[in-house]
Amino acid sequence: MPMRIERDLHMATGNGETSYTKNSRIQEKAMFQMKSVLEEATRAVCTALLPQTMVVADLGCSSGPNTLRFVTELIEQFNKSSTTHKGDAATEALQPPCYISGLPGSYYTRIFPSESVHLFHSLFCLQWRSQAPEQLKGTQKSCLDIYITKTMSPSMVKLFQHQFQKDFSLFLRLRYEELVSGGQMVLTFIGRKHEDVFAGESNHLYGLLAQSLKSLVDE
Ligand SMILES: C[S@@+](CC[C@H](N)C(=O)[O-])C[C@H]1O[C@@H](n2cnc3c(N)ncnc32)[C@H](O)[C@@H]1O
Repeated sequence: MPMRIERDLHMATGNGETSYTKNSRIQEKAMFQMKSVLEEATRAVCTALLPQTMVVADLGCSSGPNTLRFVTELIEQFNKSSTTHKGDAATEALQPPCYISGLPGSYYTRIFPSESVHLFHSLFCLQWRSQAPEQLKGTQKSCLDIYITKTMSPSMVKLFQHQFQKDFSLFLRLRYEELVSGGQMVLTFIGRKHEDVFAGESNHLYGLLAQSLKSLVDE
C-alpha cells in the first residue's frame, strides 16, 4: 500500500495525556514572544473589516494546552478591550463573537471555504515538509533526513530547499483563497539566520539526532 503522510506519519501517542506539553516549552515560549504581533493582527482585522463573527483558525495545532493557550490568549485580547472601553458603541463593534477552529487534515490541501477565515495562526509547524522530495522517494534517505545538517550532500540540501519553496508557495496560495480580503496570518516557524545552511548550533543538535536515528535503523 503506498504511504499516505496523514495516515502513516501522524504524531505518535506519548506517555499520558500531557506528554506533548511536557516537551513543548520552546513552542510555549515562542507563543509568548509573538503575543504583541498576534494582538496587532487581531486589532487590524477587527478595525479594517468589522466582521460580524470573527473566524480564526489555528493550523497544525497540538492536542494539548498550547492550543488552548492560543484560544485563551485571543479571548483575553477581546475581553481586555471590552473592559477598557465598556459602553463605547464604536469599540464594541470591534469585539465581535469569535469562532476559533483547529481542524484535522493537512494544511497543504484546501481546508476552508473560499474567503471564510479572518485570521490564520500557525506555531512551530511550517518547518515540516509535505513529503520527501520526489527524487528520494522509495529510498531510505527520505525518512531519515529530518533536518539539513552536515550529514547531507549539497545535492540533497538543494532538494529539500526546493521542496520547502514548493510547499510554502502552495501553503500561501491555498490560504490566499481561504482568507477574507484584508485578513491576516501570524505564522511562526523555525528558520535560519545564516545564508550558510550548515552554520548555527541547531545543525549540531539535529545532526546528532539524525545520526542516532540512522544507527537505530542500522541496528
Ligand atoms: C511541533 S508541533 C506544534 C504544535 C502546536 N502548534 C504547538 O505549538 O504546540 C507540530 C505540529 O504540526 C503538525 N503538522 C505537521 N505537518 C502538518 C501538515 N502538513 N498539516 C497539518 N498539520 C501538520 C503536527 O501534527 C504537529 O501537531
